[in-house]
Amino acid sequence: MVRTIVFVFLLQICVCVYSKTAVKNKRVCVIGAGIAGLSSARYLKEEGINFTVLEATRYVGGTWRYDPRVGTDENGQPLHTSMYKHLRTNLPKPTMELRSFPLPDNLPSFPTWKDFYHYLQDYAEHFDILKHIQFLHNVVLVTRVDDVWKVKHVHVQTNETFEEEYDYVILGNGHFSKPNMPNNPGEELFKGTIIHSHDYRDPELYRNRRVLIVGAGPSGMDIGMDVGEVSSRLVHSHHSKIFYRTPFPAHFVKKPDIKEFNETGVIFKDDSYEEVDDVIYCTGFQYDYPFLDETSGLNLNPKSVTPLYRYMVNINQPSMIVLGLVVRACLVVALDAQARYTTALIKGNFTLPPRDQMMEEWQKRADTIRSKGLSMSYIHILAEKEDQYYADLTEESGIERVPPVMFKIRTLDTEAKLENLYTFRNYEYTVLDNFTFTRKLEDPAVRRRFNIWQPKSG
Ligand SMILES: Cc1cc2nc3c(=O)[nH]c(=O)nc-3n(C[C@H](O)[C@H](O)[C@H](O)COP(=O)(O)OP(=O)(O)OC[C@H]3O[C@@H](n4cnc5c(N)ncnc54)[C@H](O)[C@@H]3O)c2cc1C
Ligand SMILES: *[C@@H]1O[C@H](CO)[C@@H](O)[C@H](O)[C@H]1NC(C)=O
Ligand SMILES: *[C@@H]1O[C@H](CO)[C@@H](O)[C@H](O)[C@H]1NC(C)=O
Ligand SMILES: *[C@@H]1O[C@H](CO)[C@@H](O)[C@H](O)[C@H]1NC(C)=O
Ligand SMILES: *[C@@H]1O[C@H](CO)[C@@H](O)[C@H](O)[C@H]1NC(C)=O
Ligand SMILES: *[C@@H]1O[C@H](CO)[C@@H](O)[C@H](O)[C@H]1NC(C)=O
Repeated sequence: MVRTIVFVFLLQICVCVYSKTAVKNKRVCVIGAGIAGLSSARYLKEEGINFTVLEATRYVGGTWRYDPRVGTDENGQPLHTSMYKHLRTNLPKPTMELRSFPLPDNLPSFPTWKDFYHYLQDYAEHFDILKHIQFLHNVVLVTRVDDVWKVKHVHVQTNETFEEEYDYVILGNGHFSKPNMPNNPGEELFKGTIIHSHDYRDPELYRNRRVLIVGAGPSGMDIGMDVGEVSSRLVHSHHSKIFYRTPFPAHFVKKPDIKEFNETGVIFKDDSYEEVDDVIYCTGFQYDYPFLDETSGLNLNPKSVTPLYRYMVNINQPSMIVLGLVVRACLVVALDAQARYTTALIKGNFTLPPRDQMMEEWQKRADTIRSKGLSMSYIHILAEKEDQYYADLTEESGIERVPPVMFKIRTLDTEAKLENLYTFRNYEYTVLDNFTFTRKLEDPAVRRRFNIWQPKSG
């Protein structure tokens, strides 16, 4: 008995000394407990690295936790979530899974926000991450002083202020929260309601009303169809060149961009006029890092964050990693890979190229975008480069490769969306191996069992 205790005690000392020397006492601060923060926490923990997660709310899961309220929460904090009542994922299950933690088999192919939120809660529990998270801690300042990061955070209920020093900072604070508002002329005259998709929750508010949806990104299309189920008219203003073949119902009207508002409605660029009761701007979000100052070395714009190596490493301060800044990708899968790359970097499994080389590579991409006359927001787009990105991450860091089948599924799903936005979620995708998958129509009974709301049109 005594011998066992002594043995266990010695073992603990050994483990302790070993892990301390192995990670050289590096301290890591993770900001946010959404998918980015949770997956980072899992891998940092697996490597025995000393880290803390600071999360402004009392919940894990970030934007996936629906809240019927808009504006501020019970602590006076701006509500972070942009979920709405009827939201289902816009990518099928295999591309929504964190590594080695499958979504439950019985869930429909495109789960609801609620099922996906529960999945993230299960993830945090399964990997025993909760005890590493300081909930209700809002990060207010991250500054580089000498060779450390000073992180200042405030308890949102007591207002108590804390400050620690860290060697690495991982930014996982999300970027679908701060509305990008177009501010069209005459808005102040308009007598109806105007909101941003960030504050869209429930279509019932729009029953039998004439609604204008602005923007044809994923939110514009999805919210338009959600509202269109109950609204008497659905006016859709956008300039997208994407050809959606969806058979929209007769009360949907397509319009060009807005010219101006007046009291009763909107005049469009083609000088046509529509009387509307409500407007929902689905005009996207702005990158928002209010806690960073110039010592971060990042060039922060509403539409771009630069310069980043591998779409995440702050080239001017490579001990700062910005997660999730990839567009047109399987974001969950990409976040998981980024978290593993970041952990491998901190662990010392590989070293980054010299600054000049990282800068040169980034500059080349930036020059291509500029020479095409495109906005710098394009610097975050992966699209057809997604699979090569995963290959590059693996080649450099030694992390397990994201299998090419992920990109292949996303490609076919994108096709299905172009074909019919009402039916693309009826397909079920099954991964066979790293390169192949099958697709079939899902048994509608699965969706009925989960009481899934579905648009009747189309
Ligand atoms: C409406 C909507 C639908 C979406 N649908 C899909 C989909 O179907 N498939 C898909 O792959 N992706 C989808 N996404 C993208 C989605 O953002 C990602 O799936 C994922 O949630 C990103 O995780 P994250 O951890 O980067 O950010 P978030 O989930 O936004 O989490 C960020 C966390 O950081 C916290 N935080 C922020 N600032 C601070 C601070 N200063 N201090 C402390 N904590 C802070 C927040 O409270 C939050 O908990 C959707 C996004 C939206 C908005
Ligand atoms: C981890 O870092 C914190 C904050 O710097 C420090 O207080 C703590 O002692 C460290 N723990 C270990 C095991 O190194
Ligand atoms: C915390 O600060 C806010 C804003 O300044 C204030 O409204 C609130 O009363 C403060 N709470 C406490 C417990 O001091
Ligand atoms: C708004 O503009 C339209 C188109 O010019 C016009 O028909 C309508 O009467 C105007 N509404 C008001 C209240 O002036
Ligand atoms: C770092 O390398 C070790 C040894 O090869 C490996 O076991 C570990 O999984 C790697 N860590 C990461 C995060 O890739
Ligand atoms: C599939 O990919 C994983 C991760 O890269 C790898 O470990 C595994 O061996 C691959 N399986 C096959 C059959 O190629």
